[in-house]
Amino acid sequence: MTTLRTTVVVLLGFYTFCQETIPGASVPGASVPGASVLGRPLLYGPSTALEKTVEEFQCEVLRYPKEESILYQLFREGDRSKALGFYSALSGEMANFPLFITASYEGYMVCVASVQNNTVIQPTVSQRHHLRVVDPVNGAEVVVQSGSVEFYEGKPLSLRCNIAKGNHVSYQWLVDGKPLPLSPLHNQTQEQLFIYRMVPQDSGEYTCVATNQLNITKVYSSRSTAKVIKVKELVSEPDLLFLVLKERDGTYFALVTCQSLKGTPPITFSLNSRSEFISTETVDERFATFSIPVVLDLHMGFLQCQAQNGDGVVYGQWMAMHVVPVGGAVTMHYDTDVGENFSIVGLRFYCSVERGTFPQYRWFLNGTVLEGRGDFYWVENQPEQSILLLSVGRSSAGTYHCEVSDSFDGTTVISSEARYIDKEVLNHLPTTVVAVVFGCFLFLVTLVTTCCFIGLLYQKRQYLVEKSTLDLKLGLEMHNIMVFDDDDEEFLGRKCIMDEEDYMEDDGVVRAARIVDSDQVKYQCVITAARCVARCHEKRAASEAQTTL
Ligand SMILES: *[C@@H]1O[C@H](CO)[C@@H](O)[C@H](O)[C@H]1NC(C)=O
Ligand SMILES: *[C@@H]1O[C@H](CO)[C@@H](O)[C@H](O)[C@H]1NC(C)=O
Ligand SMILES: *[C@@H]1O[C@H](CO)[C@@H](O)[C@H](O)[C@H]1NC(C)=O
Ligand SMILES: *[C@@H]1O[C@H](CO)[C@@H](O)[C@H](O)[C@H]1NC(C)=O
Repeated sequence: MTTLRTTVVVLLGFYTFCQETIPGASVPGASVPGASVLGRPLLYGPSTALEKTVEEFQCEVLRYPKEESILYQLFREGDRSKALGFYSALSGEMANFPLFITASYEGYMVCVASVQNNTVIQPTVSQRHHLRVVDPVNGAEVVVQSGSVEFYEGKPLSLRCNIAKGNHVSYQWLVDGKPLPLSPLHNQTQEQLFIYRMVPQDSGEYTCVATNQLNITKVYSSRSTAKVIKVKELVSEPDLLFLVLKERDGTYFALVTCQSLKGTPPITFSLNSRSEFISTETVDERFATFSIPVVLDLHMGFLQCQAQNGDGVVYGQWMAMHVVPVGGAVTMHYDTDVGENFSIVGLRFYCSVERGTFPQYRWFLNGTVLEGRGDFYWVENQPEQSILLLSVGRSSAGTYHCEVSDSFDGTTVISSEARYIDKEVLNHLPTTVVAVVFGCFLFLVTLVTTCCFIGLLYQKRQYLVEKSTLDLKLGLEMHNIMVFDDDDEEFLGRKCIMDEEDYMEDDGVVRAARIVDSDQVKYQCVITAARCVARCHEKRAASEAQTTL
């Protein structure tokens, strides 16, 4: 039975759909005579509405049975227990529902049309219509959920943007009026802002802006008052510096400064030795100074600074307390800068002392002190030495020396040797240098000459021998070409009976070759000579083999 009814409803719905989609099938407002079905109602109304305002919704059916009173009802989708509005209309009149909007109207609504006093004709339901109910946002306020607004770096921060009223709200956070920097440490979800680990740069005025909107043009927003968050810097490892001063009564004391580069004051600094705690002080700066008595030239143990501003204490390096007065020799040396044309244009004097913890250097030119920076000089003091930079010119000519004393006591003064410097002195090489260079040069020349001479002599001999062997080679080649009587070997009418010594010591072979002017004879001779030489070689080889045996 139920399945049959569902089928009928579906069929009816399909019929209605067909009727409505065929153009001209129905004329709005006109009744279709004899129709016993009710068309699907159409629901009109705004899609967004402000809370506590009155908005009108309309509902109509385009096809309806003639002369029947139609009841329109407005419901929330899925809740037919309570109608939001009723309207009874005759002859295709449009139903009108003025609604006082409350937050509960948010969601989908439907219009149900039914023919009154006629249960045969089934009621019809409109398409669902969504209504968004907007409550303008107001009263934004920042609440620090993590508690304090002032804390040390490394701690987390949790903020929440509370609003007095409003819905469909989106939130934006500002720091000092600018949007939050993008960082993996920042996490914003809806009204919450969470920063996992605060750094001092996260300090600032935090504001939240809560926004909601009715439509494109109507936007509501509420901006909170700024909440000042201060992230304090943890103090960094303190350095220990000290200087020594002399009392009127002749005793000495050290001013020890404990100093940190980072850290938000107030900072508590303390000074310790290995055995005892010396002093402590809480200051509004990044350093504190302590005064302790000092005996010169005595190792007084080790000192250490400690600093604290947050939870933890940081410790500096241990430092030996041993003040050595200046002593030993003061040395002054220099190096030079060479200009484009190889003349010396600049000079650096260095002054250093053998020992002393706090040396103080003074430079003199012709007995006048040079300090800081002048026309042609510049003094640069370093812990280990002092440097005097000079530009070499007329005004810088003169006698220089440096003096060293203790910075805390000017009674001991040690002076370096004096040195006269001017352009000529610098650019004229010292005679010893010249002598050495010239001497070297002379030696080189002599050496080369001797070598050449010896080389020439040796080469002459070599040349002659080489020439002869060259001729011999030529001869041997010729020998291969020319037919030659093998047995009767004669060399310039002499039987070839050359000995090893003859060949070695006498260049008669070559001389003989030169004397002959006829080419033919020359070749013959040469070939004969070649054979002689070859034989001599053989002989020598044989005799050598014998001697080695
Ligand atoms: C419908 O019936 C009720 C009583 O059953 C009657 O009071 C009402 O007037 C009727 N309405 C129409 C429109 O016929
Ligand atoms: C937005 O809503 C306001 C107030 O209801 C109305 O005056 C305005 O015309 C609306 N604008 C648009 C674009 O719908
Ligand atoms: C070398 O050059 C400098 C300038 O660079 C000039 O003052 C000097 O007279 C020159 N010296 C010689 C020897 O040419
Ligand atoms: C230093 O004295 C020398 C002579 O000893 C003189 O030639 C030179 O000009 C003097 N220099 C200065 C800067 O007074």
